[in-house]
Amino acid sequence: MIINDIDQAVTTLASGRLCAIPTETVYGLAANALDESAVLRVFMAKDRPKDHPLIVHVATVQDAGNWIAELPQWAIDLTAAVWPGPLTIVGTRTALASDLVTGGQGTVAVRVPSHPIAQELLSKLKIQGVQGLVAPSANRFGHVSPTSAAHVFADLGEYLSANGDLILDGGDCQVGLESTIVLATGPEPVILRPGAITLADVERITGVAVAAISTDAPRVSGSLESHYSPIAKVVLIETGSTIEFGTTAGFLALAQIPTPAGLVRLGSPATIADFAHELYGCLRAGDDLYLETIYVVPPVGQGLAQAINDRLQRAAF
Ligand code: TXA
Ligand code: MG
Repeated sequence: MIINDIDQAVTTLASGRLCAIPTETVYGLAANALDESAVLRVFMAKDRPKDHPLIVHVATVQDAGNWIAELPQWAIDLTAAVWPGPLTIVGTRTALASDLVTGGQGTVAVRVPSHPIAQELLSKLKIQGVQGLVAPSANRFGHVSPTSAAHVFADLGEYLSANGDLILDGGDCQVGLESTIVLATGPEPVILRPGAITLADVERITGVAVAAISTDAPRVSGSLESHYSPIAKVVLIETGSTIEFGTTAGFLALAQIPTPAGLVRLGSPATIADFAHELYGCLRAGDDLYLETIYVVPPVGQGLAQAINDRLQRAAF
């Protein structure tokens, strides 16, 4: 069920079954993007509504061209600089991208992951004629994204085991937050989901100012107000707040912030990058301890701290 053999994952995916795979951001539940029945099963496994489109994962920048019809120059510069890496580009779709993958939209989301296992997997699948993998985060819809094979098993193990699908173990995900999603259909970049590639990175690399997200921008499922949620209630607090806590409550903050009396420390990340890396595991650990509430002191700052705050606000909603 949980395997380490990349070739076994290749065979599984090429034969139309599902396999959860590691990426540098979070684990994805992968299926051949050109196999409609496999893609349908991804929606079923996650309990995900069909109007939430999927990201197609490919091995190289060139392969992305099979799925995206055209990109503005700024987006070509961005992908050349960042891919492989934690960036998803939403561009005008080619005929390869089905309505099931895109949610019937005229655009498709594509990403070239940098995780060495994902890279090897995608390259080997290409030789077998699989031109891309859809891979939404491998969690139940609305739940916290998985950053380890054990997290995937906790959410989807029962469904995957019952259907001959697999989980490829690649250890803990390095980044720990989902990729930055950039809409690339216009003259300026629009950030649909913040991530490790920051607004400052996008502006520095492209030399173009990022545009504000407009009301007619496409839907991003992570942008539902309530998402990334553990069972425990997540409450965001400031350093030094007085907390009226119940019988069982957890606490997550940067290492230099002391634990308020009576709370169970779930994590002590030393840096903002560590905070992103540990966040989802800490939220899941709170549920494993049956905590009613998890108090979190959000990190302050731009860049990755903003991406963390985006997820925390949705978890707390
Ligand atoms: O880091 C990641 O991106 C991970 C790993 C596994 O690659 N994947 C991931 O997938 O986060 P998922 O399905 O959990 O999130 C994909 C997001 C959704 O919010 C979806 O709405 C958005 O991408 N999306 C997909 N296609 C889109 C499109 N054509 N236009 C706008 N948003 C799109
Ligand atoms: Mg997701």
